[in-house]
Amino acid sequence: METKVVRIENPEIQHEEIEEAAKLIRSGQVVAFPTETVYGLGANALDENAVQRIFLAKGRPSDNPLIVHISRLEDVERLAAEIPPKAVKAMEAFWPGPLTVILKKTEIVPFGVTAGLNTVGIRMPKNAIARSLIEASGVPIAAPSANLSGRPSPTTAEHVLADMKGRIPMLIDGGKCEVGLESTVLDMTSEVPVILRPGGVTLESLWKLLGRVEVDPGVLSPIKGDGKVKSPGMKYTHYAPRASVVIIRGDREKQIREIQRMAKNYVEEGKRVGILATEETKACYRDGQVLVLGSRVKPATLAANLFMKLREFDDLKVDIILAEGVEAAEEGLAVMNRMIRAAGFHVIDV
Ligand code: TXA
Ligand code: MG
Repeated sequence: METKVVRIENPEIQHEEIEEAAKLIRSGQVVAFPTETVYGLGANALDENAVQRIFLAKGRPSDNPLIVHISRLEDVERLAAEIPPKAVKAMEAFWPGPLTVILKKTEIVPFGVTAGLNTVGIRMPKNAIARSLIEASGVPIAAPSANLSGRPSPTTAEHVLADMKGRIPMLIDGGKCEVGLESTVLDMTSEVPVILRPGGVTLESLWKLLGRVEVDPGVLSPIKGDGKVKSPGMKYTHYAPRASVVIIRGDREKQIREIQRMAKNYVEEGKRVGILATEETKACYRDGQVLVLGSRVKPATLAANLFMKLREFDDLKVDIILAEGVEAAEEGLAVMNRMIRAAGFHVIDV
């Protein structure tokens, strides 16, 4: 099928374009659209057949549930059977924005969306195009990231097209995504909320608002077994560029020395080496292709660029990527969570 790309600068005036996309959603089709985190692959969340089309387009395993996107706070009541006071607090503080809350689902949410779970992930995005699209469609929109399963999430329309061309009827180009990493997934079905996936809303800011918040042990380490995974998305090797990724983690000076040593060895072996560095360290490397992720003192910049840089290394056709681990605090926690998965848990501690 032909993938139509429509550029939207201002959804407030481009009603026709929004309506064209909304019409596709209402008729059970899949549309890729921008959010403030990453691009999403959207379909009517209440239509089981439409949702199946998402899994098909992505090549996604059907045991991985989708997030349902809404544009109004009232919509939560249709989708969630129980809304604990802490969830209300979190939604009021961080919506619209990069927070997904997991709540018990109502009957109208198909099991095809939740992959058979009794819970549903709900998020109200901040991006104006995303909100206009949901509003105009008149239905909640189920949307995973708009990448082929296993690939880095797309943060530009070009990235979506690289993975989805010919697989979906329409893509809304709304420019670069601001946050650059997916939403924080917060399980609010237990007394103490648990972060299943760190993202744009940081653990520190959730602590400030809610007091106790836990982090699922799978966030920074491999998950053992397969039966008890709370967030099925976390068990797959994810976000992977074509080259293999190795993370070098630890004291900055030791990190630099180890990367210099490894890069030199690989280059001598005739390999094309990519180095994922930071503003603070970029000048330290002579071997390999250096890309700068962002600044260590501004972890939001690291988050904003991670997926883009992984895809850039694809274009540079490197064989191996040596990545500096960053501090797992603030947005750095989400950065490390994605980087570790991109590396298939290949981390060298120095
Ligand atoms: O920022 C985002 O969240 C983006 C944009 C498009 O909104 N969406 C996104 O969707 O990242 P996806 O499908 O790539 O990731 C959804 C994550 C997965 O890790 C999935 O396992 C988890 O959320 N999830 C969804 N529903 C869940 C549920 N009921 N219980 C536990 N985890 C759930
Ligand atoms: Mg994804």
